Amino acid sequence: FPAENIRNFSIIAHVDHGKSTLADRLLELTGTISSNHSHQQVLDKLNVERERGITVKAQAYKDYLLNLIDTPGHVDFNYEVSRSLVACQGTILLVDASQGIQAQTVANFFLAFNEGLTIIPVINKIDLPAAEPDRVINQIESTFELDTSDISLISAKSGIGVDKILPTVIEKIPPPSGNVNKPLKAFLFDSWYDTYVGVVCLMEIVDGKLQKGDKIMSAYSEKMYEVIDIGIMHPEQFTTGYLHAGQVGYVICSMKVAAEAHVGDTFYHIKNPVDPLPGFEPAKSMVFAGVFPIDTNEFNRLDESITKLTLNDASVSLQRETSMALGQGWRIGFLGTLHMDVFKQRLEEPTVPYRIIYRDGTSKLIRNPTEFPEPMELQNKLSELQEPIILATIILPEEYMGSIIDLCGSRRGEQLEYTYMDESRVIMKYSIPLAEIVTDFHDELKSRSSGYASFDYEDMGYQTSDIVKMNVLINKRPIDALATILHRSQVANVGREWTKKLSEVIPKQLYEVIIQTTIGGKVIARETIPAMRKNVTAKCYGGDVTRNIELPQKAFYDFLSKG
Ligand code: GTP
Repeated sequence: FPAENIRNFSIIAHVDHGKSTLADRLLELTGTISSNHSHQQVLDKLNVERERGITVKAQAYKDYLLNLIDTPGHVDFNYEVSRSLVACQGTILLVDASQGIQAQTVANFFLAFNEGLTIIPVINKIDLPAAEPDRVINQIESTFELDTSDISLISAKSGIGVDKILPTVIEKIPPPSGNVNKPLKAFLFDSWYDTYVGVVCLMEIVDGKLQKGDKIMSAYSEKMYEVIDIGIMHPEQFTTGYLHAGQVGYVICSMKVAAEAHVGDTFYHIKNPVDPLPGFEPAKSMVFAGVFPIDTNEFNRLDESITKLTLNDASVSLQRETSMALGQGWRIGFLGTLHMDVFKQRLEEPTVPYRIIYRDGTSKLIRNPTEFPEPMELQNKLSELQEPIILATIILPEEYMGSIIDLCGSRRGEQLEYTYMDESRVIMKYSIPLAEIVTDFHDELKSRSSGYASFDYEDMGYQTSDIVKMNVLINKRPIDALATILHRSQVANVGREWTKKLSEVIPKQLYEVIIQTTIGGKVIARETIPAMRKNVTAKCYGGDVTRNIELPQKAFYDFLSKG
């Protein structure tokens, strides 16, 4: 396929608006998969293995090679979504006819818009009784100012209108503009770890040609690799031996771990360096969680599986952590909250990175509350403390505005603007500290709006904040793993809540247990668990009372899990 007969495109949509269903329909139409279920299972298998990855589904249609570059729709992966959009020249903006524009529709639209892509709006689910395509057309015009004169109205489920999509893609989306005669410039936009072949990269060949046996270099790490296998995704790996300008496909090139494959990195032939593509940022974790095994004997087994999981996901950061009370564990960093969910471990009490700016101009990033200096250590040295802030976009029916405004207010949110999208739907923008949304914000938003509000966020950098470190003391000893960083306004409530919860989960001991929360040595709240009577204890603990403080680890774990 010459470059002018290639189209690289994606589908962007809010969750559940039908992206996967439409992708499957298009693959069926081009005969890449048949409509019977055995093939569906192949795709499902690919999906299960790579829950959050970007997939490329190449399909031949008439004289064209169409690469559908599918991106995960969630905000945590905005950077990855935007990188994968770099490999596209256009995108289908899919909107559910009954739900209309939702928060991720807006976020994804702007990512695509900022990359200068051709955007084709399509309205899906017109078969639903609740479908209101005219209303959605109005929303698209007023919110995105897109031309809707020949908009496609489809049902990805029943197939109505789907046949018009690929001809529109070919007509409206320009072919990639690369030049096969220029030096190689290859753009890496995703990777995963395959147990059999190692790291598999997805790349777009921007210029030049890449073949098996070529020696290439990463512009970021300047590490050298040899191409072992190369080809297209059809939809599974199909070896072609080379890829040339305009094509996207997979490249396997002697990388040992997924962490070597940096999304957004540029590769070139070793003796022929080129300018890397702009916009590269190494992955940065924004949500951190401490993980400790309940049974310390499980450490090695868990260590193995956690290491394996991080091998497969270049954007997870991993550090060993030791806590006096909980033993050995890990501190794992994620791009965001969904990313953490996907990791499928029981990780609770996530923290976000805080920043300390010193008077001498230096700064320090704190990812673990135990690293946070005590007030005394900061005396005369501190310039300011900062915390990460996000810009939240919330779309909701106006009748829920009051209760969502309350919610955002209680999370230290500041309203920046609100606009009506049509008579009854509102877009609100808030700046909210990231720490306030990492736990249950999304659930709260859903429950307060009967599921109708949708939410998306983007990074707004750091902002000055009056944050403090709260310590939890058991019998006057600080429990490092329970230390937490929070805003001063929350200290009284959280302090009381924590002592109370801990007093409920820690079983009675032979001795009195005093639980305290403190800030810089000052006690905020206190609970006391009275000692149990001796005869009862003998039965429960077999009389082993030699250690001064021996609280069952399980209690801490329960506490951590309950938040
Ligand atoms: P995520 O993968 O979670 O991001 O969702 P998605 O956007 O890929 O949506 P998916 O294709 O999984 O569809 C979500 C639900 O909508 C599924 O239950 C589909 O069967 C249904 N659906 C998709 N298209 C249509 C349609 O045209 N009409 C109707 N009635 N239902 C549809």
